[in-house]
Amino acid sequence: MPSPSEAPSGGAKPFASFLAFEKGTRRKGETIGGRYRSNGYAHHPKNPSRQTQSLRDQARSHEEPKTHPCLVSTDDEATRTALHNAHHETLSANEDPGMIDIRGLSYFVSQIENLSHWQRYAEDVLGMQVNPAPGGGLYVKMDERPFRMLIVEGAEARYLASGWELANETAFKAALEHLSAAGIEWQPGSAAEIEQRGVQALVKLTDPSGNCHELSWGHRSDCLPFVSPQGVPRFITGDMGLGHTVLPAPNFDATLAFAKDVLGFELSDIFNFRPDPSVAPIRIHFLHCQNARHHSLALAEYPVPSGCVHVMVEVDSMTEVGRAHDRLRAHEVALSATLGQHLNDRMTSFYMKTPSGFDLEYGFGGLQVDWAEHSAFEFTRVSIWGHDFSVGQR
Ligand SMILES: [Fe+2]
Repeated sequence: MPSPSEAPSGGAKPFASFLAFEKGTRRKGETIGGRYRSNGYAHHPKNPSRQTQSLRDQARSHEEPKTHPCLVSTDDEATRTALHNAHHETLSANEDPGMIDIRGLSYFVSQIENLSHWQRYAEDVLGMQVNPAPGGGLYVKMDERPFRMLIVEGAEARYLASGWELANETAFKAALEHLSAAGIEWQPGSAAEIEQRGVQALVKLTDPSGNCHELSWGHRSDCLPFVSPQGVPRFITGDMGLGHTVLPAPNFDATLAFAKDVLGFELSDIFNFRPDPSVAPIRIHFLHCQNARHHSLALAEYPVPSGCVHVMVEVDSMTEVGRAHDRLRAHEVALSATLGQHLNDRMTSFYMKTPSGFDLEYGFGGLQVDWAEHSAFEFTRVSIWGHDFSVGQR
């Protein structure tokens, strides 16, 4: 169940539910500058240092985690030098190649002291396969890829990073150029991290709320079929990524600007939680990237000790949602929210606690959006029915 700190006080129940839905619009003909001028998140393509400085100032004002994985220095100086040289060779002064072209949530990394807890949870409750990961840890497999969840060993149970996939090497280099033009600091992944994640290249960066993001291209795959130990036919992944992640963003304005102006996400829709009409609402913005999933990322304006509000995975029938719910009860996993259907992405789902302390939404029927036809809106109810988050507070 979500701890009080994982959802705003005074409204945890309806509040946590927003984590799962949204709906949005991308207007392809619209310019970035025009869009942000209208809401105060001004982007200055001819003077990126202004926006960057603003992001940095706001980031500094927010307390960063003391041992954030993105802040761990790498000793792979050769990799660092090669990556910097690669993008500086093609980047002329003051030239910004444009937005980063993220295709989907490729994987996430979480940590736990005892890996066997995640193994049992993944196999017995989620119905996913588990294998040893190179260099230690667990691969949790939910489709033809070797893994979509990487679980590593560590003293603190928490979410560590979101892995975002770029289409190819050209897109990856363009992303580095964009980061450089925007003055955003990043670190190359070490050789061990690249091997463990099974990608061609990897960089890591931290948003103004301290969330770690990894950008990579060229995942490695043996394309072995997914064979669920619980008979789950399939999870909905492919071009839409593994699902979505909802991250804490107490430094909200700067983090939202980072997600849009740096990472290239676009708004799907908005939920403003108003537990007390006399104070400013708590904001949750739902964001999409270059796929049809209603949202791959959402940002919630409050801190979460585990580093993640929730991750969503999607199955192909309500039968499988019900069977997962039965497994949750059989294995006495904590329910965080009852079955319900979200208003914005229409996902029918329930929420449960993972061994790493954040929630996991297990759902069916999520909206797939033609962004050219979509209009963003602000929704005022988290769910059409159900999703009682008070069960997670008991
Ligand atoms: Fe969700």
